[in-house]
Order: sequence, then C-alpha cells, then structure tokens
Amino acid sequence: MTPQNRRKKATYLSDYEPTPFAIDHTDLRFALGSEVTDVTAELTMRRRADAAQNARLEFDGDELVLVSLEIDGKPLAEKDYSATPDKLTIYDLPASGDFKLTIGTRVNPKANKQLMGLYRSGSAYCTQCEAEGFRRITYFYDRPDVLSTFTVRIEADAHEAPFMLSNGNMLEQGVLDAADMPSGAKRHYAVWHDPFPKPSYLFALVAGDLACVEDSFTTQSGRAVKLQIFVEHGNEGKCDYAMDALKRSMRWDEERFGREYDLDIFMIVAVSDFNMGAMENKGLNVFNDKYVLTDPETATDVDYYGVERVIAHEYFHNWTGNRITCREWFQLCLKEGLTVYRDQEFSADMRSAPVQRIGDVRSLIARQFPEDQGPLAHPVRPDVYEEIDNFYTATIYNKGAELVRMLATILGQDGFRKGMDLYFERHDGDATTIEAFLACFQEANETDLTNFSHWYHQPGTPVVNVDEIKHDDGSRLLTVSQRFSELPHFTEDRPALTIPLVFGYVGPDGQDVPVAGSNGETDMMLLTEQAQDFKFDNVPSDARLSVNRNFSAPIVLEQNQEPEDQVFIAEFDTDPFNRWQAVQNLAMNSLTATNAAILAREKPEPPLPLVTALRSVLANDALDSSFKAQCFQLPSHQAVAEAVGAGFDPDAIANAKAYINAYVALGLEQEMTTFYEKALTPNDTTTDAANAARRALMNAVLKLLVASDKPEHAALAVTQTMSAKNMTDRMGALSALCLQGRTERAEPLVAMYEQFDSNGLVMDKWLGLQAVTNSDETLDTVRALLHDPVFSMENPNRVRSLIGGFASNFQQFNRMDGSGYQFLARQVGALDEQNPQIAARLLEGLRSWRNLEPLRRNFARLALEKLRDQSGLSSNVSDITNRLLGDS
Ligand code: TRP
Ligand code: ZN
Repeated sequence: MTPQNRRKKATYLSDYEPTPFAIDHTDLRFALGSEVTDVTAELTMRRRADAAQNARLEFDGDELVLVSLEIDGKPLAEKDYSATPDKLTIYDLPASGDFKLTIGTRVNPKANKQLMGLYRSGSAYCTQCEAEGFRRITYFYDRPDVLSTFTVRIEADAHEAPFMLSNGNMLEQGVLDAADMPSGAKRHYAVWHDPFPKPSYLFALVAGDLACVEDSFTTQSGRAVKLQIFVEHGNEGKCDYAMDALKRSMRWDEERFGREYDLDIFMIVAVSDFNMGAMENKGLNVFNDKYVLTDPETATDVDYYGVERVIAHEYFHNWTGNRITCREWFQLCLKEGLTVYRDQEFSADMRSAPVQRIGDVRSLIARQFPEDQGPLAHPVRPDVYEEIDNFYTATIYNKGAELVRMLATILGQDGFRKGMDLYFERHDGDATTIEAFLACFQEANETDLTNFSHWYHQPGTPVVNVDEIKHDDGSRLLTVSQRFSELPHFTEDRPALTIPLVFGYVGPDGQDVPVAGSNGETDMMLLTEQAQDFKFDNVPSDARLSVNRNFSAPIVLEQNQEPEDQVFIAEFDTDPFNRWQAVQNLAMNSLTATNAAILAREKPEPPLPLVTALRSVLANDALDSSFKAQCFQLPSHQAVAEAVGAGFDPDAIANAKAYINAYVALGLEQEMTTFYEKALTPNDTTTDAANAARRALMNAVLKLLVASDKPEHAALAVTQTMSAKNMTDRMGALSALCLQGRTERAEPLVAMYEQFDSNGLVMDKWLGLQAVTNSDETLDTVRALLHDPVFSMENPNRVRSLIGGFASNFQQFNRMDGSGYQFLARQVGALDEQNPQIAARLLEGLRSWRNLEPLRRNFARLALEKLRDQSGLSSNVSDITNRLLGDS
C-alpha cells in the first residue's frame, strides 16, 4: 500500500492464463462470532495436466489473517510459504499433483463496513462475494474460471442464529455436544452441500434470527421445489408479491427459454445493508430488502415493478451466470447483459410490452448514453480495468442487453432461440466468453457476426443520420450513415457496425404502407457500412417514415423531420414506441430551442406542436394510461443538458424547462384538471395493473399542474399527499411539491416522518425528497440530514437516497458557487474510508462535468482534484477520479 492511495495495477485481458491448479472440492467450516469468526477451508487440489512442474500456488486475499496452513494434514514450514493480508504463496508443493490444502483464517464480521465478504446486517450474518469478496473470507483462487463443488458447515449460537443457510441442499443439522459449549451459550450447526461446481463469487452464507415465508413450485418435469423468503421479523406480511414474482419467473423461464430450476430448494434473503440490488448466489439469493418488501402503504407502484424485475433477474442468472459463468471479469456482460435482456423480456410479457420498452430506453438514455459519451466510456466487453467493482455499469448491463436484443432483431425470434439453445447445450458447466456466445448464434444460424461483434469492443454511442429524398416518381431514397462522437481517451479506429433499423411508412390513414426496398427490405434496414443507400419505390407521397421502431438499435438518430410530421407520428404510428419517441422529440426540440433563445436573450417560441400532441394523447381512449403517463413525463433537466452538450448552462436549462412545463401546464390546464379530478380515488389501496396505470398518469398530470406554479394546483397536491392511503399517491404529490420547491411541502414531510420514521425504506424516500427539492436551502438541509437519526453513513440505501439524490438535483447540485460539487467530493472522501464501492458510485453525479460551462466546470475540476489527492484513497475512488480527470 502506497501512502498516497491504494491504486491497483491495471488488469489486462491479454494477460489471461488459466490457474496451474484446479480446486475440485471446497470444504468450508465457519465458527460464527460477531467479532471473531474462524474459517477453515479444506481444498481438494489438483495440478492441471499442462501446468509447469515447478508452478507455485498463489491465492488471493484481502485484509486476511492466516491462522493455520497444512498440506495433507501436515503444517507447512515457514520457509515454504508467505502470507500477507492480500496474498498467500506456497513455494513447495507435493510432486504427485493432488493434495489437500487446509487454510485457517480469522475474520471480524462486525468491523466489515465495506459490505464485501462476511459482514453483519442488523443482527444477521451475511456474505457478498461478487466480484472479489470471497478473498476477504479465505485465501482462494478468487476468480470466476475456478469451479468447485462446496460443502459448508456453519456453527453458531442457537439463540443468535436459529437459521444457518448456504448454497445447495442441507445435509444435516444439530445441536453441539454439551461438552463443547462455552458457558451458558447453546451452539448448533448445519451442513450444506452444493453439487453444482461454481466459482467463489457465487458462494453465500446467511445466519440469523429471521422470519421465513414458505411456498413451493412444481417444475415442468414435475419436481417440487421448496421456496423460502427470509426477512426480518415483522416483515412476513410484505413478501407475497416477491413470492408471486418468483413463481412467475420460474414458469416463464421454462416456457420462453426451456430452462428449469435444478435444486430442491430456492432461498431468498432480504437484508437492509446491501451494496447493490441483489445477488444471484446459487440457490441462495441475497437481496437488498428494497427489492423484496412491498405493501401499498409503504411501496410505490414503481417499487412493485422493481421487486418483480430484480427477483426475475437474479432467478434468471441461475442459467445465465451460474450454470454458465464468465471466464474472467472482462466477460461480465456475458451474464449481465444477457440476464438484463431476459428480465426485460419477462417484464414485457408480464406487463405492457411497449411501456416496458419505453421505460428501458428511457433509462438507457438517461444513464448509459451519458456514460458512453463522457470520460467513463468503456466497451461492453472491456479489455483493461483497474477496479472491477467500478465496471458494474449501465454500459455492461444496459447496453449489454441492447446488444443481445439486436441479435434477436437481426436473427428473428426463432434464430435467436436456436442460438440460445446451442449456447445452453454447449456451455452448461463452463466459464466462457462473449466470443463463444456469439459463435453459437453464428453456427445455429449459419451466418457471420464479425461485423456485429464490433459493438462489444468499442465505446461510444453511434450517431445514425437518415436523409430522405422524395422523388417525383414516387420513390424515396434514404441515405443512411453512421459515425461516432469523439472520446478523448479512446483513439483507436472504430469500424462500422451492423445496425438493424426497423422501419415503416405510415399512410395518412394511420396504416403501414407496404414497401419493398431494392435489397428486399420490408421492415428492417441492415446497416453494415459507414454509409448506405436504400431505395423504396411507389411510396405514396403523403406516407411518413418511421425509423428505429421499438428502438431497434441503441443509437442517436438524426432525421430531418418537420414538427407536423412528428405530431402525425405521435398520433398515428403503428409502432407505439415511436409515438412516444415523437412526443419526446417534440419536447426536446422545444427545450433545446428555448435554451438557445434564453442564452441569446431572445423570446422563446411557444411549444405549440407539443401541446397539440399531448392533447391528442390525453384524449385518445384507445391508449393505455401507462403509455399516456410515459408521454406526459417530459425530458429531464439532465436529458436536456446531454442534448445541449458541451458548455451547457444549468441556469438556462432550468429556465427553459420551467418555461416549457408552465406553457404545457397552462395550455392543457382544463383537460388535465378534469382528468385529474376523475382519476383521483380516495382510500385507494389497490395494486393491480390498471389502477397502477391510472395512478401513473394522474401523478404525471399533477406534476405538470404543480409546475404551472399556481397555488391552487399545489393545494391539490397537498390534499392528495395528506390523505393518500397508498405510497404512490403520497409520493407522487409530495415529489411534485418538492421538485417545484413549493413551501407547502413542509407539513406533509413532517407527517411522513412521524408516521414512518422506523421504516428505513420509507425514510429513503423521505431523505430523497428533500435531497431533490429545488430550493436554495436544500444543500443546508441535506447537510443537516446527515445528522438525523434516520440517516446512517453505513447504510448504502440511506447514502444513495440523500447524497446520491442531491447529486441528481440538477439545479441545487449545479449551484453556481461550486458548493454542490465540493459537498459531493467531501462526502465521497469521508465515505471512502468505510465503503469504497458506494463512495465511487456516488461520483457518477460528476460523469458529465466536462460539458459544464467554464465557471462550473472549473469548480467541478477543483473538487475532483482535491479528492484525487486525498491520502489513503481506495482503488475504487482513485480509479474513477483519475478517469474523470483524465490528463486534464
Ligand atoms: N450480480 C449482481 C446482479 O446481478 C450484481 C451485484 C450484487 C454486485 N452485489 C454486488 C456486483 C456487489 C458487485 C458488487 O445484479
Ligand atoms: Zn445480474
């Protein structure tokens, strides 16, 4: 460790080599204690056939203390090994090649604030091993290509930990012999065995005094699987939705992908201290309780949706991640991109498919596009990293999912399924690569995906320009070209990509006009070169082009479309996604034009086409309310900032947004108020889809009404939030008040605190509301909330809500005096000593700092430089600050 920081050496894919030894079986014994836990690992080792005879054994560690070390039952002499906290090296190994290695380590779960390895959440013991947490438990080949069967014996105080869980099936459990017991305390044990070889990152252990909700599932081949959800006592009543989502996920994976569950038991544990959403450990998923617990009073409709999505995601990993895993972490998208694609498809089948697609694209554009266009841009399959924790990104997950989706679009559903079937058949039990994955689709479809594979290896969002010329003979000539925006840290050539552009021509009657291109295109143009022409004959002169339907490719589309055409597409396209897209384009064009007018001190143009489009959306009875709600969510400040690009001025953007919001709100005031009054339902505690859709639209409309800044609309919001019986309506109205900076927020905030201050998940919302409040007092409020009893720097959910929430507050975070950036950098610096993973993630708030106007940009740079120079900085935070700052 250097005094300056704990920066790691870069890891390169080109250095990949298999280990010289295999670990065929791992036998773990845990003697659990809050401050002292003894871990014994007995490893069945085998020298690989092609390993050098003099190969050393080098195991990973992280803050470990070695207690004992034996080979085949004999302690090692000191000269034969060296042990540091982060590495165990054994020089002298049995020539025969096969041996038993027994390693004793001692860890302190209570002192583990990183929440990686073995730690405590409340009174429970739990583990998080992905990506490199297992090495904080024992020395090991802590890498995904070393697969081993596991037997785990857990011993704990029977009172403190009635439940002791690990992966696989339980073999036995019992009470320890009285003679072994320390005075008074009764100890017991359980032994688990997982027959599926797995890498260390999928290991899990949970022990504690938990409540258990049980159910069962019969697989398609008729096997009964026991389902258990473990939660803190008192939360048993909040698991029904999660359990139902689990059963639906299990059925869906059978029906859609032919994948059946493989153990006799599947367990989910909800804990309140967790770094990410959830973790797919074999047979024992560990969840952030945010993605398990629901009831109408405390969870919003969006929370219900999140539970369903994350339960499905982790369950689907059993085949895409666990049975087939990654060879090294450069292949992370192999499991994450694919599993996100699968969970998106599941949600689309459970709910409205177009609304699901709109939501997925919305979050791709909000989170992945900025990442891909800034200093943190990286390929979906990177070939170098400094800190792997920092690569659990929107690019790996969400762009990774888009690449899988494009494969399905290019090959068609049947061709895609053939490729997936071959992948499951050929690679079951493997730790493999993206190349091997793509090879399955190539072979199953007898096609060449070389050109497509470039998507995995280059960063940046492609910009596709579609230039359409109408000829008098009724033909249309489309010139379609692709290019990449510049990235300062990526100078390699970026070859042209295969880009599937689903399209159609919409006739004046709102029906698609059948067309045929010169190369046989009827509904998809496959762009494979830098520029290509597509010609369509006999297109009626009043038909309008709709392109990149359903967002068939994750690109920025440039198209010369008149506002009238956009209004038409918004009203009549047969593709619901592009109808939504047209509304967003109308809004975005008005917002950027208004921003430009404000900067030029000119009078802005009123957004009349946008108002027309929204009016027709609201009035259209054929449209689902959840779709309408998506249309009524206009582009965020951040989205406008991304669209404006280099040199954006947060004040001008905020003014532009206020102008457009107010104009729309007043333009549609009559219709929206009428709708609102009809939609409002007293004593509403429903959770079904139709009611959730109604609430979504009602709250989107209310938000716009409040944005008009008329006190009578703010009064509607106060009444709604104070009388709401469900959290969606409570939050919908209260967040509208906070985002508008209305003083009326005070009383409902107090009421919410008084009612729910013992519920951490509701306090996340309460903290978040204040963090996103648009008021000059917000930064001081946030500072004060750091000391509120409901806040804790040790709980990632609280930290994300308050500090992360503030970093997403466009106006207050981007304060002109730079105090927002300084605050964030200082909090990151403080948190880094406890939880580097979460600290580094908070810096996402500065990923677009280079685009700021010069004054703020300078403040942001100073804050980042100060942080980078802090001594003792973790590898996580140094990696991000160095990449954010680049060579500047
Ligand atoms: N594999 C997990 C998922 O599918 C991600 C994850 C959970 C994770 N906890 C983590 C990644 C901790 C890194 C560190 O979503
Ligand atoms: Zn995942």
